[in-house]
Parts: sequence; C-alpha cells; structure tokens
Amino acid sequence: MPEPLAACPSPRLSGRAEVPGDKSISHRALMLGALAIGETTISGLLEAEDVINTARAMAALGALVERWRDGSWHVHGVGTGGFRSPDNPIDFGNSGTGARLAAGLIATSPLRARLTGDASLRKRPMGRIIAPLERMGARFDGADGGRLPLTLTGARDPVPIVYELPVASAQVKSAVLLAGLNAPGTTTVIEPVTTRDHTERMLKGFGASIDVAEIDGRRHIAVTGERELRATALAVPGDPSSAAFAMVAALITRDSEIVLDGILLNPTRTGLFETLREMGADLSIDNRRESGGELLGDIRVRSAKLRGVQVPAVRAPSMIDEFPILAVAASFAEGTTRMAGLHELRVKESDRLAAIIGGLEVNGVVCRSGDDWIEIDGGRVPGGGLVSTFMDHRIAMSFLIMGLAADEPVEVDDAAMIATSFPDFPQFMQRLGAELTTGRQQ
Ligand code: S3P
Repeated sequence: MPEPLAACPSPRLSGRAEVPGDKSISHRALMLGALAIGETTISGLLEAEDVINTARAMAALGALVERWRDGSWHVHGVGTGGFRSPDNPIDFGNSGTGARLAAGLIATSPLRARLTGDASLRKRPMGRIIAPLERMGARFDGADGGRLPLTLTGARDPVPIVYELPVASAQVKSAVLLAGLNAPGTTTVIEPVTTRDHTERMLKGFGASIDVAEIDGRRHIAVTGERELRATALAVPGDPSSAAFAMVAALITRDSEIVLDGILLNPTRTGLFETLREMGADLSIDNRRESGGELLGDIRVRSAKLRGVQVPAVRAPSMIDEFPILAVAASFAEGTTRMAGLHELRVKESDRLAAIIGGLEVNGVVCRSGDDWIEIDGGRVPGGGLVSTFMDHRIAMSFLIMGLAADEPVEVDDAAMIATSFPDFPQFMQRLGAELTTGRQQ
C-alpha cells in the first residue's frame, strides 16, 4: 500500500540533531567485516532497509552478523575466499549499492548465488558491473542479461584485471576492487573522474594491500588479492546525503537555525555544500575532526536568501545523490540555476531527472531540461502539487522539504521508500519544527 505524506508551510525550524549513519560506509562496513578475519565492531550503522538487506546478504554468504542491544553491530568474517553459496536468492530490495558491491565480492569466489531486488532495482543497469566481473572469470545468467534477477557463478580461477571505468561510478569501482580481493596478483581500477572513495579508505583500514596514485590526472587504484583482511572497529559518521534535506529545509524556511552533528565531510561527498555556499547559503562547520580515516564536523545552517548558480558538470560525482534536493533549493532561489552532467540521474532508484521535472512542474516551478541538464527558474513556489515518487526515497524527501516553504502544502504519493535510507525522516523533521501530515491534502 502506498503511504501518501504531505508537508505544510513551516517557518522557524530549530534545534540540534544527529542524522543517521552514512549509507555508503554502512554497506561497506558490513561487507568488509563479512570478509575479514576476526570480529568487526560497528557503531552508528545506518539501520535502514538498504543496509539491513546487505546485513542479511552477508549472513546468507556465511558471515555471522549480530546486532547487540546497545545498537552496535558485530560481524565475524569468513576470510578471503570463504563465502559459501546461499540457500536462497539474495534480495537487495531497493539498493543498487548492495547488489553491485555484493556481486563484486561474490564474483571471484567459487560459489553460485541468485541475486534479485525490488521493482525499481530490477530496472537498473547491471551491465556496468557484469562487463568487468566477467573479465575476471565470473558468469551472470538471467532472462534479461543486463538486469536483475541474475544467477552469478563466481570464478574458480579468478583473473586480476586493469579496468578503466567507462562511467563515473563508485559502485562499479568498488565492485571491481572487492572482486580483486580474491584474485591472484593486482587488480587496478582507473578512474577518469574521482568518485566517492570510501572503499579505498576502508580497505586500508581493514589492512588490505591497496595503493592509490594519481597519474595524468586520473586516479589509479590497485588492490593486491589473496590476502586476509583484519577485523577492525568502526564508527559510522552522519550521512551528508541525509543531512542535505534538513540543511535545505533550514535555508528555505524563515527564521530557521539548526545544527547537525557529526556529519561526514569527505570531499568526494560535499559538492552540495559548495554549491549551496555559492548560492549564498549561511553554512558554518564547527568542531572539525577526524575519525576512522574520515573528516567530520558539526554543520550550522541558518535561513538565507539564495540566488541561482551554474553547477559545473565536473562537480556532479561529488553530489550525485543531492540533485533532487538541490532542485528544491533552486526553486526558492532568485534567478535561474543550471545543473549539467546529469546523465547518471537517469539510472538511479528512478529516472531522477524525469522525477525532478515532474515534481517541479506539478508545484508550479518553471524549468527547462535536456538529456543531461536542467535549468530551474526560482523565486516563489506555489506548491499544492501531488508528486509522483517512482519508488525513489530521495524524490519523496526532497519534495516534502519543498512543502515546508511553498505557498501551499506539497504531497508525495508514497513515502514508504524513505525507509530505505532514512526511516526516521518524518519524525526527525518534525522535531526540528516541520509540519508533516499523513493522508491526502487535495
Ligand atoms: C554509491 C555510489 C553512487 C551513489 C549511491 C551510493 C556507493 O552510485 O549514487 O547512492 O555507495 O558507492 P553510482 O556508483 O551508481 O554513481
């Protein structure tokens, strides 16, 4: 059953809050823990559907995964090459990261697994991981070769490869590096454009043999396989992609001031912060610190008069999940905002570019778009629209934020998918002063 939810005009957001743990780091913590020798302890793991599905997947592959009553997670890994064939298909739900990274982990182990997902994930392209993983010796069988469900047969004699990424994708990079962990010799990924680098950083933390070098402006990441990973203790920082919703909410509502504690500030993830600052946002970061090889800090945001900007295409990978919420900020900014390099938005949890355009238009916001760009004329936002979310959590959360500062409430057709990344989002926003109501508004 779809769960409609509406947001009403809500001035004065205030308070101090922590957002849930970073999704990318949470997936990787469970996966690397599942491979490592010994007990990996994870605090602050994101307990959302996507990550829980990864936890189940790791258990199905033979790792011992436990949640303790204090909220910490404990993973006893199987050792490199130690995964076993799962008894049942592994269902990754809505998560491209879960499915693609796990495929990498399995690809070089001698086992067979059926991989599947929900209706949204079954539409997303898997060819981008199948191509390199088949070169490493894996086999993928399915009715529609490039989509889930697929049966993955891992290589008996894995082959290390040198792979230049054809798309700027941290998931593809990570799938190949994780596959490399059980291949003899060195597997190298060449990245023309830098994408989020959590896999590299975390592999180092787990004691993998990994080297990163910049050659002619491109990152070369080399992992040497058939070594054991060492279990470690991890504290997952707050997810900047989740923080983004509250940040934009505070910017566009009147007389607001909020502080979000312990947010990940990894520069491969902070393109939105840079863009909001260029738009005139009042953002300050206190208490900058390092934890587990990552930078974090507390972000203070106050209401601001935003202006339209041009967002360069090269910045897209560092804010790839933040375009829906940036589109909302742009709707309230004076003048026009242009975003380019948005090709990858077409293959996210929904065709995000189309979903953004649909949501803007039903709420009276004027925009123009092409294959991989959008221009939004900002100013007053009439609101009053019912937004189609297409099983996409970030579309749902973004347009609810729009409703907090539009003239009329904004309703989303289905808020259920929010649970994939930020289950507590409605209550979290309500605690800051947002007015959200269930049920149909119009
Ligand atoms: C992610 C990589 C990105 C991002 C996704 C998480 C990751 O996907 O959109 O939400 O954790 O590696 P792509 O690799 O498809 O760009």
